[in-house]
Amino acid sequence: MSESLDLAALPADFTWGTATSAYQIEGAVTEDGRAPSIWDTFSHTPGKVAHDDHGDVACDHYHRWPEDIGLMKRLGADAYRMSVAWPRVMPAGDGPVNAAGLDFYDRLVDALLDAGITPNITLYHWDLPQALQDRGGWTVRDTAEHLADYASAVAGRLGDRVTRWATLNEPLCSGWIGHLEGRMAPGLTDLTAAVHASYHLLLAHGLATRAIRAAAPEARVGLVTNHSTVEAASSRPEDIAAAVRMDGHTNRWWLDPVYGRGFPADMRELYGVELPERSGDLDAIAAPLDWHGLNYYFPATVTDDPRGPVPYAREVRLPGVPRTGMDWQIDAGGLESLLLRLTDDYGVRELYVTENGSAFPDTVSPDGAVHDPARARYLEQHLSACVRAVRKGAPLAGYYAWSLLDNFEWAYGYDKRFGLVHVDYATQTRTVKTSGLRYAEIIRAHRESHA
Ligand code: FCB
Repeated sequence: MSESLDLAALPADFTWGTATSAYQIEGAVTEDGRAPSIWDTFSHTPGKVAHDDHGDVACDHYHRWPEDIGLMKRLGADAYRMSVAWPRVMPAGDGPVNAAGLDFYDRLVDALLDAGITPNITLYHWDLPQALQDRGGWTVRDTAEHLADYASAVAGRLGDRVTRWATLNEPLCSGWIGHLEGRMAPGLTDLTAAVHASYHLLLAHGLATRAIRAAAPEARVGLVTNHSTVEAASSRPEDIAAAVRMDGHTNRWWLDPVYGRGFPADMRELYGVELPERSGDLDAIAAPLDWHGLNYYFPATVTDDPRGPVPYAREVRLPGVPRTGMDWQIDAGGLESLLLRLTDDYGVRELYVTENGSAFPDTVSPDGAVHDPARARYLEQHLSACVRAVRKGAPLAGYYAWSLLDNFEWAYGYDKRFGLVHVDYATQTRTVKTSGLRYAEIIRAHRESHA
């Protein structure tokens, strides 16, 4: 065990989990009444996803979930962060509930609980029903209200057994990458659409928080956001200002309104787009949360780019730093600082790392094992960062590794493997990687440290 990984510093009841999302693993896209989502449309549009991969089969988790729960047990994880597919539960996006869709999650939740694994359910992990996209998607207010209705249906059915709920996963990706950069569904590149989408996503979070609590009084509701630490590439005033803008775009725009500060004035001015505000919205968005989930992968170093896209700050690629197979810089210190920022600056009282992990081009060796020491090292470094943050006062209550399984990595398709468990897509064979075995060892060691 590496010296700095002092697991005993983590609380005795620390949650150890793995994470996935519906579209990335389930497959079965036309079964039991599921309708298409924006990711079905996007991935079936030629040229949008590497190799034109799509989630039609993915990890076939819809049929293989008992085996996948077995894998979680082998890792010794006591929690599982998963998402529910809106297009299974409300295929039209609003209106009638599809009982068969909910039945799937009902069975899954029961089986998880039987296995001693606590589900943590995210309601929206990017798979908007296509029918709602056809009516404007996140650029229109109605979509926020529909999310609340869908949340109420799911919490009403599962809330007697599930207490950990998240409204949205990474609204930044839906808002900015989906509507401004066009690299994710629905694939728009329109600043006004993006700003309106960001507003409606946060409003949806607020309305769904209320709806979940009304349907499931025991619910503990949180939001999952992704962040990066932002550094200026030089001490030039232009670069420092660029870093402030990028921080506003990546971090403050998503956190300030949720923690009662409203939308940051500097960013409103920069975007120059009028927000579709109505009275009461900001209060809904700032509904006090029971916990916050941080997804962390990489830091950002930026330089001023006056002619580039909003926010006129361009990421620079630092030479000579370690990187994952995504070409993402490895910097565990960023995780520590973001945990402390959420604690000290935003006053979060219960924190989880809801995603963290790395992709590498893993292969099954002739000995049948998948040797992935780089992923194990990434895991250890980031857990050490968690320990440091806890020592400095972060109320960190758990860590969910991304991901349980190799899966459909959005625009990168199946090329990028984030799993602790390898998936051979031709045969659907699962193989626990050595990093998965290492995770199991860490979980065991932590429990023993408190025994
Ligand atoms: C996050 C997503 C998750 C996964 C990881 C690698 O942005 O929430 O679904 O794709 O990145």
